[in-house]
Amino acid sequence: MQNNIARADLDAVVDFLKGDNPRLTQAQNVETFEEEWSTWLGVRHSVFVNSGASANLITMCALREARGLGEVIVPPLTWVSDIASVLQCGFTPVFADINLRTLGLDVNEVLDRITPQTKGVFLTHVLGYNALDQRLLDGLHARRIPLIEDVCESHGATFNGRKLGTFGLMANFSFYYAHHMSTIEGGMVSTNDRDLYETVRMLRSHGMVREATSEPLKHSFSERYPDLSPDFIFAFPAYNARSTEINAVIGRSQLRRLDVNNRRRIENLDLFLKHLDPERYHADFETAGSCNYALTLILKRPDPVLCEGVMRALREHGVEFRRGTSGGGNQLRQPYLRQLLGEHEHKKYPNADHVHFYGFYIGNYPGLEKEKILGLCSMLNRLPEGRDDDVRT
Ligand SMILES: Cc1ncc(COP(=O)(O)O)c(C=O)c1O
Repeated sequence: MQNNIARADLDAVVDFLKGDNPRLTQAQNVETFEEEWSTWLGVRHSVFVNSGASANLITMCALREARGLGEVIVPPLTWVSDIASVLQCGFTPVFADINLRTLGLDVNEVLDRITPQTKGVFLTHVLGYNALDQRLLDGLHARRIPLIEDVCESHGATFNGRKLGTFGLMANFSFYYAHHMSTIEGGMVSTNDRDLYETVRMLRSHGMVREATSEPLKHSFSERYPDLSPDFIFAFPAYNARSTEINAVIGRSQLRRLDVNNRRRIENLDLFLKHLDPERYHADFETAGSCNYALTLILKRPDPVLCEGVMRALREHGVEFRRGTSGGGNQLRQPYLRQLLGEHEHKKYPNADHVHFYGFYIGNYPGLEKEKILGLCSMLNRLPEGRDDDVRT
């Protein structure tokens, strides 16, 4: 990533600070950023928080308050906080493998894992690829299972022309430095559900009822608890996940450039995938509606020779990359899940495991020159492959 916080964003902060006695803690700019974000996304309500991980946590907490405890279906290829939030809120995570063409949850696997205990499907749109299809949406709707979308890596991506994050009961976004847009650190919970919106607002601020916008809701609490000051009624054992006016000023400034930047990113990924050797690398991702802040490089075969060659060549050419794509690969290989589910659980998810060892991503920023992308492809396409007996099965 280069220059994700631009001069214009810094100038906006300076102007704000030079203003008349600016209030820095959460106030008008946070509210306006939430409204502008809701308009951009196409939802009724949004709540700005201090990170994407906080958005995950508060969303799972709100799901628990709305639906009670049970199972939540999650992917093994996601960020740690998607699984941590499920565990921390007391749900049982139920894993399903991914589809290698979308890097998101495999639809058949999700539908197969639904039980009477399922309280939600917490799906991640990985690195800008849309993970939704109509069969999944219809299947969940028919069974009344809420969908929660993690769009932290996919701002602006669409399904059937509609933005991701507008299909589920709730959606999460991250404004971490390397993502499509940044507030330095930050995240958003978006929803069309008014009751959940009120719950999420309270969860963001210690579970305090005064954070709700609904007067009847606040009134019902003070009537029920006359021994409490209406200023200090804590409805839930919650968190402080608020952000500040400075972060919101940066977010509002960044949002103005998001669509233009995203168009460049879409062109960059198309060019990259068109010029990659499809014999060596996966080039047949489902790119309809995708919007990626990273170029995805996934080996076609489990070939350790090519894999080592890729890493060596990228390092030699000073190309920054991450191995394992989203969250470093198969979460079931991580210590926190090995302790919980045992040493062998990861073997049940071969697609996530393939990405774990043979998947990479490389930054895709708006100013990335076309020549660099073409040069990268021609360098990758020349790398020697392993012989058939080197390739692991
Ligand atoms: C899919 C996904 N969810 C959640 C997060 C957490 O976001 P943050 O880094 O803003 O806490 C990330 C990470 O960056 C992510 O990639």
